[in-house]
Amino acid sequence: MQLLSFSSIFVSLSILLISYFSFSFSRNSTMPTLTAVRAANAAFNRSYTPVAIIVGGTSGIGQGIAEAFARHTKGNAHIVIVGRNRAAADAIIAQLPKPAPESSTTTTAQYKYTHEFVQCDVTLMKNVESVTQALLAQIPKINFLVMSPGFLSMKGHDETVEGIDRKLAVHYYARWKFVEGLLPALRSAKEAGEDAKVLSVLAAGKGADIDLEDLGLKKRYSVANAGLTTPTYNDLMLQEFAEKNPALTFVHSYPGVVRTGLASKSETGFIRAGSSLITALVYPFSTSYQDCGEYMLHGLLNSKQGFSRVGSLGEDIGMKRYFGSVEARKKLWDHTVEATKVSSLNS
Ligand SMILES: NC(=O)c1ccc[n+]([C@@H]2O[C@H](COP(=O)([O-])OP(=O)(O)OC[C@H]3O[C@@H](n4cnc5c(N)ncnc54)[C@H](OP(=O)(O)O)[C@@H]3O)[C@@H](O)[C@H]2O)c1
Repeated sequence: MQLLSFSSIFVSLSILLISYFSFSFSRNSTMPTLTAVRAANAAFNRSYTPVAIIVGGTSGIGQGIAEAFARHTKGNAHIVIVGRNRAAADAIIAQLPKPAPESSTTTTAQYKYTHEFVQCDVTLMKNVESVTQALLAQIPKINFLVMSPGFLSMKGHDETVEGIDRKLAVHYYARWKFVEGLLPALRSAKEAGEDAKVLSVLAAGKGADIDLEDLGLKKRYSVANAGLTTPTYNDLMLQEFAEKNPALTFVHSYPGVVRTGLASKSETGFIRAGSSLITALVYPFSTSYQDCGEYMLHGLLNSKQGFSRVGSLGEDIGMKRYFGSVEARKKLWDHTVEATKVSSLNS
């Protein structure tokens, strides 16, 4: 009986995933091909050494973006990978291209190239605050802030010692706090005439209406609710950051179905157990993390100042399935300022 219900849940979940993702993954003729996207990314060339902070760069989509960025800058960049897994980061960094010695000592570049790892468990706001402060002290200008931390779990409400649900923390609150904390360096980059762009990889266009009376999901939490709410929160936060910082670029992306370790590393046993089957079922509609990295980088590099949303090919999806209002943006902003305030969280 238990086995039956397990398999029916699993089959339903798989069908749901396949229909959801295959529906989302319909290419039309105006969308860029991978060859065109790679060529456009390869044309990226700046007179300064660009600085990119990649939160969630130790695996999957973040890793794909870090590698694509390193490839197209020929390693001549300051790349900071943020995550928990030092061994994974070291292995990625060891493989990144390194610029020729003469270009790394050029006098026109403000920095020599640096590829480094910063450890941070982003479920805790105090960790995010100390990392952003340390980064600000070390790096005066940041050109690209990419955030793709995430995990898959069917566990219900699961609070940290700071009282924030872990899924909400990783998929929303920590991202808000990274942007807020690193804004001075992003603004400095813009003032120097350089790129200043933020990308949050989550699920643009896959959100739902939100409950303005229960923004922390303290009253009505469910896995589905958390999964549908955080994309809308990402839209609203990036739109509000853009309103407050009109010279900067803020992008929310939906990466599509990407072959990463998300399911195989899930905290939920049956997702872990079924991850190979899920991967096989979605394979025809899925993308490698390397190709996704190219698409996401393209979406980031191509987006203009202000707020925009891009799809799995890095294409602009406009305001498709946007669930916001000025009131919602303001309420969420005020709620988030309070919810992520470290002094009150840890007192
Ligand atoms: N793969 C897909 O098909 C897909 C589809 C739609 C949306 N997304 C979203 O895209 C994002 C990236 O997913 P992915 O597929 O690339 O997953 P992934 O391969 O599992 O990578 C997740 C990344 O998040 C980091 N991370 C997780 N928990 C963290 C924590 N507490 N503190 C710091 N870093 C943490 C991991 O680093 P450490 O382990 O080093 O901490 C890792 O670098 C997620 O938000 C996911 O929801 C993915």
